[in-house]
Amino acid sequence: MRTLTVMGAGRLGCSLARLAHLSGHYQVLDVVGRRPEPLRRAREFIGAGREATDLGQLRAADFYLLSVPDGEIASCANDLAAAGVAPAGCVVFHASGVGEAALLAPLAERGVLTASLHPAFSFADPARAVADFAGTLCALEGDEDACTRLEALALALGGRPFRLAPGGKAAYHAGLSVASNFLVALTAMAQRLTARAGVPDELAQPLLGGLMRQTLENALALGPRDALTGPIARGDVGTVERHLAALGDAELAAAYRALGRQTVALAGDRLPDAVRLRLLALLY
Ligand SMILES: NC(=O)c1ccc[n+]([C@@H]2O[C@H](COP(=O)([O-])OP(=O)(O)OC[C@H]3O[C@@H](n4cnc5c(N)ncnc54)[C@H](OP(=O)(O)O)[C@@H]3O)[C@@H](O)[C@H]2O)c1
Repeated sequence: MRTLTVMGAGRLGCSLARLAHLSGHYQVLDVVGRRPEPLRRAREFIGAGREATDLGQLRAADFYLLSVPDGEIASCANDLAAAGVAPAGCVVFHASGVGEAALLAPLAERGVLTASLHPAFSFADPARAVADFAGTLCALEGDEDACTRLEALALALGGRPFRLAPGGKAAYHAGLSVASNFLVALTAMAQRLTARAGVPDELAQPLLGGLMRQTLENALALGPRDALTGPIARGDVGTVERHLAALGDAELAAAYRALGRQTVALAGDRLPDAVRLRLLALLY
């Protein structure tokens, strides 16, 4: 059985360690933290492992997961390298969405195989996370051998591993942020506009929600280009002019213009050249 040590027994660390233990293919060896009481609760939740507050106590493991906050990963990697407990040829990985395996450079210099494994999942509550994790996509990046071994680990946890291009981590994470956070920001923008038009709050939700759900389903099923409808896709310059006049505040107008230009690009050759130029003149 492969062995796994977890540094940082928080939401993600506890969840993945518990899943590893439940898989029957990985033995949780050491669970590392700074404070004894949360560490004891974490070990109880995981159902395996030995509590450790001192890196000098750690045993040699096949995998080390640095599940500390993103800002702590590099210093933990330094500390682990200085402690000299992770043997050459083992895998040390972190779970940051944006950070690369390079955060673990001091370990790589000692012959350790380094990588990142980012589950696209929200670990708000470890018990729920363990119950719901199956099928979660897990983005892998880093040393080739480390990624191969982490593919097996991710599959054992119930995840669906896939590889990122070298250097692709920031673009990957920006893509997730656009899809998730900007969708929320768009909802808020749309609600401000419908409120300005006098739509009551209790109607804004079904009005915008129905349209947004249908549009998202279309974009995912048909692809963004074929799902695109509306004034820009139709080349309706007059409607875009009226929208811009109604937006009022400069921030909203800047966002509308930036997204409008993306929409013109998406519409592509559906728009005659002359119409595209008139739209772009309004949107710059
Ligand atoms: N939560 C998610 O939904 C999610 C999703 C995908 C990826 N991730 C990634 O997973 C990683 C962990 O995130 P999280 O949400 O699980 O964080 P978290 O719940 O805040 O847990 C972090 C844990 O690290 C411990 N810690 C901090 N510094 C430490 C150190 N120097 N040595 C040992 N332990 C230390 C903290 O213990 P103390 O109590 O002592 O501070 C805490 O138990 C991050 O890289 C994050 O980007 C998280």
